[in-house]
Amino acid sequence: MAAGEVFLEPSACRRQGCGRRRGWPGGGGRPTGRWSSSAPRDDSRRLVSSTDVDRPSHLGTVYSVYTLPCKASKKVDAVDPIRNPYTPNAGASPPQLAGRDDIIEEFQIILRRIASGKTEKGLIVTGLRGVGKTVLLGTFEALAKEERAVVVKHECAKSPGEFTRKLPALTHRALLEVSPKSRWQERAKIAAGVLQGFKGHYDPEGRWSVSYERPSMEAERLTGDFVTDLPDLMEALGAAAAEAGRIVAFLVDEIQFLESDELSALVMAKHRINQRGLPIVLAGAGLPQLPNLTAEAQTYAERMFRWPEIGRLGSEAAAEALVTPAQGEGVEYADAAVRLILEYTEGYPYFLQEYGKAAWDVAEDTTITESDVLEAKQDVEDALDRDFFSLRVGGLSPRDLDYVKALASLGPGEHAPGDIATAMGKKSSSQIGSWTQRLTQRGLIYSSRRGRVAFTVPHFERYVERANL
Ligand SMILES: Nc1ncnc2c1ncn2[C@@H]1O[C@H](COP(=O)(O)OP(=O)(O)OP(=O)(O)O)[C@@H](O)[C@H]1O
Ligand SMILES: [Mg+2]
Repeated sequence: MAAGEVFLEPSACRRQGCGRRRGWPGGGGRPTGRWSSSAPRDDSRRLVSSTDVDRPSHLGTVYSVYTLPCKASKKVDAVDPIRNPYTPNAGASPPQLAGRDDIIEEFQIILRRIASGKTEKGLIVTGLRGVGKTVLLGTFEALAKEERAVVVKHECAKSPGEFTRKLPALTHRALLEVSPKSRWQERAKIAAGVLQGFKGHYDPEGRWSVSYERPSMEAERLTGDFVTDLPDLMEALGAAAAEAGRIVAFLVDEIQFLESDELSALVMAKHRINQRGLPIVLAGAGLPQLPNLTAEAQTYAERMFRWPEIGRLGSEAAAEALVTPAQGEGVEYADAAVRLILEYTEGYPYFLQEYGKAAWDVAEDTTITESDVLEAKQDVEDALDRDFFSLRVGGLSPRDLDYVKALASLGPGEHAPGDIATAMGKKSSSQIGSWTQRLTQRGLIYSSRRGRVAFTVPHFERYVERANL
């Protein structure tokens, strides 16, 4: 052992899954766990083995009394994995919410206008997977709560009719939050009457109905048709909120999974809210096909909502999303390192978080370098494949996979159905219509206004290629 090198104590390695490439385990290198140190040699700190340990016999046989130290043990405190600031998780609020100021301001204006008794359009954010829609809804929620709004949050599932079934309970909870039962005035009592026993049904044949287990006087004017009745329900809730001096904010995620009747009902409800000037804010998020879906469901949807599309971050915002969280922990990036990450991720927020996290975990010093970024690339792709891409193809039939491979083979972006058909060896696009419909309903692809088809997941064609599906 060279002078100035120090063996580490057993407790030095605390990191799971470490040492993959720089040495061991599973890689080359010498498992000494040594690190260069200018500190004077201290023989009292030394590698221990099972035979070295003075261990009470009642603890039984010791197979391995120390964990070999790994690269994590060499980390300076600043790049300690525990302090890694990045958030590559769906819906996780990033440490630096970059590039979304305009849309946040827009929501704030809507909120304040409605709080001051004015009317405003609803706001539905659209965009590809992983661009930050859910995070924005989280920000809207925080802003709404600052205005003392009652927030009703819902994430739509692929299961048909789920929104209809859950909405009455959500509305009921909102009513109780608007004002406690003991302080209900006239409007709140009416709303409670409308809600009483209100149960949304969706039968297997796709018929909608609303039943009232204990019909109240107020509920009598309801028809049993969700599209007609949801506006009444909203009106009753809005009137109760106005009476209590509160606003209600509905925040609905994954709106593309709503059935067309449910979308119609939402648009009609928004129409009624505007007509009556009620203090209800409607905001939501979904995949890029939403404006088309909603226009099909209700012709005047365009007039009820704004549909801003969010996407990848511009280079300045992307650099900010990457560099600022590290700076907050006393870690810098070399310019070339930032350039490489921006090039790879193309500014997509999820990928930025994943790359930032992996680069931090590889780095050993307070500056993340170009070589750290190069080294982290495999970790990034492994993590993306495992946590972001592979779940999109689980359960796809071999025929659906053929479609996916054909679309991927055409490269990134939108493609004409005819070209996809050709790539699948079919004569015309009419032969692949049912695939397009199925994969759209699943949320894996969408059709643009021009009728061209694209993946809803950025970089999906790269995944298809490397996963060799
Ligand atoms: N403006 C931003 N700046 C930096 N990171 C962001 C930003 N917006 C989102 N992120 C990060 O991107 C990732 C994806 O965010 P989110 O889950 O909100 O995306 P999404 O559009 O809702 O995706 P999906 O369609 O799959 O539900 C999260 O890791 C989040 O921390
Ligand atoms: Mg989301």
